[in-house]
Amino acid sequence: MASRDAKGLILVADDGPATVEALRRELAPAGYRVFSAASVPDALKLLAATRFDVVIANVRLPGANDLELVRHVCENLDETEVVATTNYATVDGAVQAIKAGAFDYLVKPIAGDRLLAAVEGAIEALRLRKSAGRADPGKGSPGTYGLWGDSPAMQEVIRAIGKAASISATVLVSGESGTGKELVARAIHYGSARASAPFVAVNCGAIPETLLESELFGYVKGAFTGASETRAGFFQTADGGTIFLDEISETSPSMQVKLLRVLQEKEICMVGATRSRRVDVRVVTSTNRDPQTLVAKAVLREDLFYRLNVIAVAIPPLRERGDDILLLAHHFARKFAAEFGKAVPQLSEAALRALRAHTWPGNVRELENVIQRLVVMCEGGTIEVRDLPALMRFSALRESTVTRPLVEIELDYIRSVLSSVEGNRSQAARILGIDRKTLREKLKFH
Ligand SMILES: Nc1ncnc2c1ncn2[C@@H]1O[C@H](COP(=O)(O)OP(=O)(O)OP(=O)(O)O)[C@@H](O)[C@H]1O
Ligand SMILES: [Mg+2]
Repeated sequence: MASRDAKGLILVADDGPATVEALRRELAPAGYRVFSAASVPDALKLLAATRFDVVIANVRLPGANDLELVRHVCENLDETEVVATTNYATVDGAVQAIKAGAFDYLVKPIAGDRLLAAVEGAIEALRLRKSAGRADPGKGSPGTYGLWGDSPAMQEVIRAIGKAASISATVLVSGESGTGKELVARAIHYGSARASAPFVAVNCGAIPETLLESELFGYVKGAFTGASETRAGFFQTADGGTIFLDEISETSPSMQVKLLRVLQEKEICMVGATRSRRVDVRVVTSTNRDPQTLVAKAVLREDLFYRLNVIAVAIPPLRERGDDILLLAHHFARKFAAEFGKAVPQLSEAALRALRAHTWPGNVRELENVIQRLVVMCEGGTIEVRDLPALMRFSALRESTVTRPLVEIELDYIRSVLSSVEGNRSQAARILGIDRKTLREKLKFH
């Protein structure tokens, strides 16, 4: 364990020795202790042994997909911030890095003052997050594997992850869009003995059918026009680790036959090669449709389904997770407040009720986006029903009809109408179908 008397412990994850040296020359004199790793597996080993304050991670590193390290740290290590670095300036790259959870984004060559500002900002964000956590006790425990959820349904999922992590069998993760399938796949990988080997995610729906085979299995020089050199595929990259085949139902029948063979033989055949080679890869797949229906409709081969479904993890939609909605809302409020350097906003009782009653067709991703917007728009203070997207304001009214006395519902409704007309009582009275005097009396009564 490294000594903690420095201003902070920094891990520079970069495969360029010159970059590592340049960053060390800036950071060490400023009082930071600097460690380095040249690949994702090396970085994971260090991160497992030591709590770093900041990881300065190149978005593209050997041993895993782009941004994989950024995502891993942001989702699993609550006490560590990430500053992403890249060799090329692209807007998309910056957006992706920040979306993955990076605190800041630097383009090489990195100026010394910009570097120090980013690191200081990241450490300040950590400090804010810690004090926010203390000021807000009882609002949920840190999520297991970065997954928040106390509901019986999510506890079941977390148990299934633990079971899946302890063996290398295939896992089929199913759940509606935005329920956390990829997060669960990562949790299985990082909770398993394969954690220090790569996790490679492949979106089967996003890669054209004609390319998928060579992307997955690689190709040998001369296999097709343009194959000017031999190239490894995702399966080789994931050797020793986990491959996550996202949206497995998007694969063609012929691809499914090839995958079946890989699972049976534990061997892959590069495009254009005459012999197969062994790989040691745990396969996790996902679908946002009901797996049984996929089989019944022959979208997914039945024999492949049984191979993929050794462990089934079905993630419940958010609307079936009860108070987890509130737990997640608070979690995201803290997360985004720390990220944007703002005070953590409170949520009024009525706003919480509205969130709880909404049906969340976009599941956790939708909730995350809603809270992110609220944190940006609300300058500290309390989030009220009127701040919520219109759809949720209606669900506030719906929910209240089930569990609350009529007078409260009336007051809530009067308030929401008033707020929708910015306090104009004449207009509110007109909408409510009562005169101004009755409105005044009702407000006085309540
Ligand atoms: N239980 C949870 N706790 C905290 N964050 C979560 C949880 N579930 C999902 N998230 C967050 O919600 C977002 C969506 O999750 P993820 O991408 O894993 O969903 P998905 O099921 O793969 O979605 P899609 O079907 O659209 O691909 C991510 O930002 C993820 O970090
Ligand atoms: Mg996904």
